[in-house]
Amino acid sequence: MRRELHPSKNFGGTITVPGDKSIAHRAALLSVLAESDITILKFPRCDDCHISLKAVEHLGVNVTRSGNELVLSPPESLAVSDDTILNCGNSATTARLLSGIVAGLDVTATLSGDESLSKRPMQRIIDPLSEMGAEFFSENGHLPVRISGGKLFPFDYQLPVPSAQVKSALLLAGLASSSGVTLRETIVTRDHTERMIETLGRGVSVRDVKAVAVPDPVDPRKKKMKMPEPFRREITLSSQAKIVGGIVDVPGDISTATFFMVGAAVSGKNITIVDVGLNPTRTAILDHLRAAGCSVVVSDKRTVSGELRGTVKIEGGELKPRKIHGETTASLIDEIPAIAVMAAFTEGTTVIRDAAELRLKESDRLETITENLKLMGVKCGVLEDGLAIEGGKELAGADFRSYGDHRIAMAFSIASLFLVGPSSIDDASVVRISCPEFYDILKKVTA
Ligand code: S3P
Repeated sequence: MRRELHPSKNFGGTITVPGDKSIAHRAALLSVLAESDITILKFPRCDDCHISLKAVEHLGVNVTRSGNELVLSPPESLAVSDDTILNCGNSATTARLLSGIVAGLDVTATLSGDESLSKRPMQRIIDPLSEMGAEFFSENGHLPVRISGGKLFPFDYQLPVPSAQVKSALLLAGLASSSGVTLRETIVTRDHTERMIETLGRGVSVRDVKAVAVPDPVDPRKKKMKMPEPFRREITLSSQAKIVGGIVDVPGDISTATFFMVGAAVSGKNITIVDVGLNPTRTAILDHLRAAGCSVVVSDKRTVSGELRGTVKIEGGELKPRKIHGETTASLIDEIPAIAVMAAFTEGTTVIRDAAELRLKESDRLETITENLKLMGVKCGVLEDGLAIEGGKELAGADFRSYGDHRIAMAFSIASLFLVGPSSIDDASVVRISCPEFYDILKKVTA
């Protein structure tokens, strides 16, 4: 569905955004392993979360829905036969986390996905889950993947790529098969799985490794900071870990809110987002906006269902370009399309490095961002692992392509508000993957 987009002089207001996709997926998937009901409040209506819900229903979980409140009742026994096919649609989170669950259960099932998901790498979970003892059959590490699970070996692993999906797949495999798992992260990724296991059950502990001051070998009168161990976080799941059940109240999705925050940053106006998730592994966007020259005020902070949430007010200011690299890139991984749009309206050159993972998302985001930025008249170069964006001049409306990627569609729909002349996006309906309400919220903030 092609959508016409128009520049807007107005921007701002107070909004809420739909529930956090990462948290909702986990709450739905954990119901397979729960001893009693999991009630989910503010479950988002997006396609990705719906597909996780359908998958657990397929496995025998009973879902009772009343508006956006769900009660998931675990099955007496799993409804899996060797020819069970669990469709993961477009959702890599469903595919990777569910692979972990199936690997740890005494069942055989096949996971499939749509064309885009079938191109995304699964080897990153196949390798460690196979080492744990599960059997995988796939062609070149892509979906469809047939998994024969069972009792797994205790597992000790340092994550080679910073990926919360891989980490979660391994924790869920351990949980499903009652085997201990120790994981080490050199870059800390979103920790919703760890938090949710503690909220709905027990058995996970987290140890952060902090840099310590040691004498500088060059000049021993001075001190320098050194990591005492070669990782930042160690996560231990006990073989006794379990999911009892309980309530998960889902906060607003900060990755969706980012598009509207960038709208405020570029317009110089302000937006308030109420009841949005503020898990510290997800708030790098607030630091980025602050460092780029925006005012960021966080209020009404509280922890609900093990997750911090609150109200965020962003006011745009004189924007400055930044270099984003290393751990910062990893912690902004879903926000880069919106940040790239912001860079297009920022005087100077924004450089994003260490972002090769973006090539493995719903589209090759380094390429799809660049293609769309060029259509607006931005000078932009694709690097092997990043982007260089020279922004700041008056930019023209364009006929954007979404490339089937929800975050690309949302990023360039926000860009269109600040361009000279009309724009369009070829397939706006793709926003349904994470935020079907996107254009309603956009209408509200530009009214
Ligand atoms: C997610 C983890 C990230 C993120 C994705 C959601 C999750 O993926 O990009 O949108 O819910 O665990 P990776 O684990 O591939 O980094």
